[in-house]
Amino acid sequence: MSFYVTTPIYYVNAAPHLGHAYTSIACDVLARHARAAGEDTFFLTGTDEHGEPVVLAAERDGISPRELVDTNSERFRALSDLLELSNDFFIRTTDAGHITRVQAILQRVHDSGHVYRGTYEGWYCPRCADFKSESEIGPENTCPIHHIPLRWESEENWFFRLSTFQEPLERLFDERPDFVLPRHAYNEARSFLAQGLQDVSLSRAKLSWGVPVPWEPDHVFYVWFDALLNYVTALGYAREGEDLTARFWPATFHVIGKDILKFHTIYWPALLMAAELAVPRHVFVHGFLLSPHDGELEKMSKSRGNVLDPFAIIEEFGPDALRHYLFREVTFGADGPVSLEGFRSRYDTELANEYGNLASRTLNMLERYCEGRVAAVALDSELAGDFAGLGARVDELLARAELSAALEEIWQRVRRLNRYVEERAPWQLAKQPERAAELERVLASLAEGLRLVTVLLHPFLPGKSVELLDALGRPELGAREFAGEGWGGPVSAIAPLFPK
Ligand code: ME8
Ligand code: MG
Repeated sequence: MSFYVTTPIYYVNAAPHLGHAYTSIACDVLARHARAAGEDTFFLTGTDEHGEPVVLAAERDGISPRELVDTNSERFRALSDLLELSNDFFIRTTDAGHITRVQAILQRVHDSGHVYRGTYEGWYCPRCADFKSESEIGPENTCPIHHIPLRWESEENWFFRLSTFQEPLERLFDERPDFVLPRHAYNEARSFLAQGLQDVSLSRAKLSWGVPVPWEPDHVFYVWFDALLNYVTALGYAREGEDLTARFWPATFHVIGKDILKFHTIYWPALLMAAELAVPRHVFVHGFLLSPHDGELEKMSKSRGNVLDPFAIIEEFGPDALRHYLFREVTFGADGPVSLEGFRSRYDTELANEYGNLASRTLNMLERYCEGRVAAVALDSELAGDFAGLGARVDELLARAELSAALEEIWQRVRRLNRYVEERAPWQLAKQPERAAELERVLASLAEGLRLVTVLLHPFLPGKSVELLDALGRPELGAREFAGEGWGGPVSAIAPLFPK
């Protein structure tokens, strides 16, 4: 079976911050895990370059939208590289390949009678590019996400008949309780649906920075329809001369933040149904990274300015430490605060002490007591028991995108290995020549445990895990069970993985 995972495509109206890095890393973990399991994998990320948020930012900077999107898209691409994302393509919605495919798909939706011309009247947030329904309006007609006044908009538009998908969507949610994950996000989507769906604007007449509506060239498509379609259009042109749609559609996971739940769990499946395309298998909705703003913890966002700069953190600590921190600190799916202090503290306790030290000690002891080799001897069955079923458990959790729970399972074993070293005290055994066989077994067992946690950590720590597996002389990512016997091979020394 194929595995296709996507990030949201990010607005290029400002520089990327840690919130964007968060979703992208999560998707990369899923993609790397799937690849290691031998699945035919495609991982997509990119930038959302049309619509009012971009036009407003370009005006503010006194440059053209084109200049703005070219510059800022490059910054998101640079972040992807620094994070060591293994994405197979980077889509930009200004790509010609995207634009022609959006037009073709929406023309089909038009021709099947799912659109009509009408007048839109209502409250609109230019930063969300979203028309707000009654329940989504903050105090004094403000946007609850951006805290700016909403605008009363009235314009002739093309509408998408979202209301006609009320029942098909209810059926989808009934039949597929794992369509939206985790459960509280599923419930939120259901309760939005239960309010009754209203038709939504499909085009904008007052905007020119967008994909022209083929049957009404003075209009451009409402940016969300253009943007959502990226998940499908990319497969059509990511590889020259090859159409990957049949191979990877429907997507396995769209991973998003909860700010864009309505678009992905309601609008998107309805649009796909209208276009006669299959609905994705799962939308995973994660929570917000929070950070102080005026003394209160709030969503980290460019409008609040309470952002952490992922570039600076990676510069100092490398990408792996950041990747680890985010999923340890905040349970994936829930909201939670992040800070530089929290980052430093986890770096020291977990990465430097618990994991990095374990690796150094293991390699050093093998060097000192076993001639730098892992012996081909029967391994400690008690330790093996503590690792039994671990690979399968991690697979099961990641199949539901429960990244923090998966990482916790692995980390418990890292701690188990540290206790094992203390319990067995190889340095004591080394003083007793008659216990040489036991010493060999202890260190070979320790090496196997370290190898296994490192294989399982690979999706989270793609750089450091490879370094360590190479030092162990066991670079392959496929062996995901605790072996019965030591592998019998040389190891080499490495510099501390996470220096203090
Ligand atoms: O909404 N905590 O783009 P966007 C966690 N272009 N995640 C966060 C976050 C935070 N504080 N801040 C941002 C858009 N994110 C549209 C999407 S998709 C077809 C179009 C992440 O630049 C999270 O994934 O506002 C959130 O959903 C996304 O960035 C919003 O990025
Ligand atoms: Mg946003």
